[in-house]
Amino acid sequence: MIRLSIIYHSQSGNVHRLAAAAAATAEGLGAQTRLRKVPKLADPRLLDVQAYADLNEATADIPDATHDDLVWADAIMIGTPVVFGLPAPELIHFINHSGMVSIPGKLMNKAVSVFTSGAGLHAGQETTILAVHNAVCHWGSLIIPNGSSVDILTTEQNGGLPYGTCNSSWHKPNNVSDDNLAAINYQTTRMIEVATAYQIGLEQTTSSIQFTDIEKLGKKYNFELA
Ligand SMILES: Cc1cc2nc3c(=O)[nH]c(=O)nc-3n(C[C@H](O)[C@H](O)[C@H](O)COP(=O)(O)O)c2cc1C
Repeated sequence: MIRLSIIYHSQSGNVHRLAAAAAATAEGLGAQTRLRKVPKLADPRLLDVQAYADLNEATADIPDATHDDLVWADAIMIGTPVVFGLPAPELIHFINHSGMVSIPGKLMNKAVSVFTSGAGLHAGQETTILAVHNAVCHWGSLIIPNGSSVDILTTEQNGGLPYGTCNSSWHKPNNVSDDNLAAINYQTTRMIEVATAYQIGLEQTTSSIQFTDIEKLGKKYNFELA
């Protein structure tokens, strides 16, 4: 059984809706799923304060993401709003602290796929996903993009892109179209399929790679071990 962690940040509900849809798809496919939100930073970006408060209340029972959720998973889906063409600072903050698990190779054999919501069409969605991909390279995980070989990725409602599902919320809370839900459904299904194939391959493979000893590295560069 594939273990999937869905790590996301959302302010006004759009990325949350995509993440929740991904969780429902994954569970329907028999994956063990963790839906985890990356908490807000002290300086919230203000667009629709009521929507932020509503989402806080509606998602109060979703646990905060920890780096153990990355280590635990076979597959990881990451969702973020577009913020000036970049991932939300909350997500970057979460990634900034992932070295303790990524440096000793604990994220190497994971499949990772990214989805996003921006206000408009092509207003930074692709750059946001690619920016998260940079971090995935540092983790040594496998980037799983959407490709462009299924119809749902090319609908007028912008159901998805080769990079990953790209919602356009037009600055409205919870504004996810059926096409975008279909795109995240496809993206999740593909993730589970790839992760399953990879897991079978890993079970048949013996690795000779010796990962970095984080204790030794910590002593060398004098960094604190969490
Ligand atoms: C500070 C700030 C910067 C933003 N920058 C962009 C941007 O560059 N491109 C874009 O399409 N949307 C941008 N948006 C809009 C959000 O990405 C968009 O509303 C998104 O759907 C919010 O997702 P959420 O509902 O999950 O919070 C920005 C919003 C804020 C608050």
